[in-house]
Amino acid sequence: MSSVEIVPFSEDHIEAAASLVAARYRTERELNKSLPARYEKPDAILERLRPFANGRADIAVMCQGQLKGFLLGLIFPLRGVRTAWSPDWGHAVNPVRDYETYREMYTALAPRWVANGCFDHAVTVLAHERAVSDAWFSLGFGMAGIDALRDLSPVKGAPSKVEIRRATLEDIDVVLRLTVGLQRHLATSPIFMPLMTYRERRFHEEWLSNRDKVLWLASLSREIVGHMRLGPVDAPYAPMPVSDKETVAISGAFAWEDHRSRGIGTALLDHSLQWARSAGYKNCSVDFESANILGSRFWHRSGFRPVCYSLVRRIDERIAWAHENRDEIDLLRGL
Ligand SMILES: CC(C)(COP(=O)(O)OP(=O)(O)OC[C@H]1O[C@@H](n2cnc3c(N)ncnc32)[C@H](O)[C@@H]1OP(=O)(O)O)[C@@H](O)C(=O)NCCC(=O)NCCS
Repeated sequence: MSSVEIVPFSEDHIEAAASLVAARYRTERELNKSLPARYEKPDAILERLRPFANGRADIAVMCQGQLKGFLLGLIFPLRGVRTAWSPDWGHAVNPVRDYETYREMYTALAPRWVANGCFDHAVTVLAHERAVSDAWFSLGFGMAGIDALRDLSPVKGAPSKVEIRRATLEDIDVVLRLTVGLQRHLATSPIFMPLMTYRERRFHEEWLSNRDKVLWLASLSREIVGHMRLGPVDAPYAPMPVSDKETVAISGAFAWEDHRSRGIGTALLDHSLQWARSAGYKNCSVDFESANILGSRFWHRSGFRPVCYSLVRRIDERIAWAHENRDEIDLLRGL
């Protein structure tokens, strides 16, 4: 325990931290050559870490003379909930003792997150990191999200009777209905993602007006039955394996329930990949809830391979007052 200390993240740490992250990434890429090569070198990771190395963010470090590990938590609104999140480029350890070291670093840093009002904790790990995931599972984390990647080769079995066209601004109402349909699905068991809407109309008006972003509509006998949305990755903290100019990201796919399992999703995906090839992309990514049974089955069957797992933990908020130092007088009343 004593080998872990908490220090402000600064320029003193970033080179060693970036080298440790690059080593993890190289191992992942050895297993999956379709990952972008750029994060094998520490420079691309330095770009990510530098904005946080200003002495304001805390990291847990294992030092012993040289940096043996680090854990950085960004305070981030994940799905609208204030969360302390360590992205895939925000942590690393010397692999010899990764299980124990991660447990020790989290033990040291988590009280700061809780004191800062973050009861939701998240970490994103690379797909090959089994011992690292086991460490987080042992700490009460569970799997929530999967980022997956595939090349742009055509999908087999796309039915020809599905008509596909690009949505324009004139389609905004049907696009919003499909989007709400997808959100309703994500609110069902066992996903239970709260159905919250936030500026959906404005977001989609921008999407449909942007030449680099597309939304395909699928029709059967002139009835619009599904959609697929894709565009460049523009999230600044997106996981390394999917953050690349040559990777296009699918950010939504949906078919009305009555029309599922007839190849509409496959036809939309095949069309999307064809468009991505002509637009000069090399890879396609998607992220989905691990509890989304229909979604995860579809993406796995369609050739997407997991590259990152996001693990989450929700801490009982009563710990803010029912903590180890709770006043004895208060306790005696309840005994
Ligand atoms: C994911 C989704 C878009 C797939 O659309 P779909 O039109 O049902 O997809 P397809 O019909 O091409 O493929 C679905 C299944 O039907 C099967 N299938 C496809 N064509 C078929 C046919 N002609 N006959 C029988 N089965 C067929 C496929 O093998 C596939 O099997 P799977 O369950 O192992 O994946 C759809 O299930 C959906 O809208 N789900 C809810 C929203 C959602 O989860 N979206 C993804 C968010 S990340």
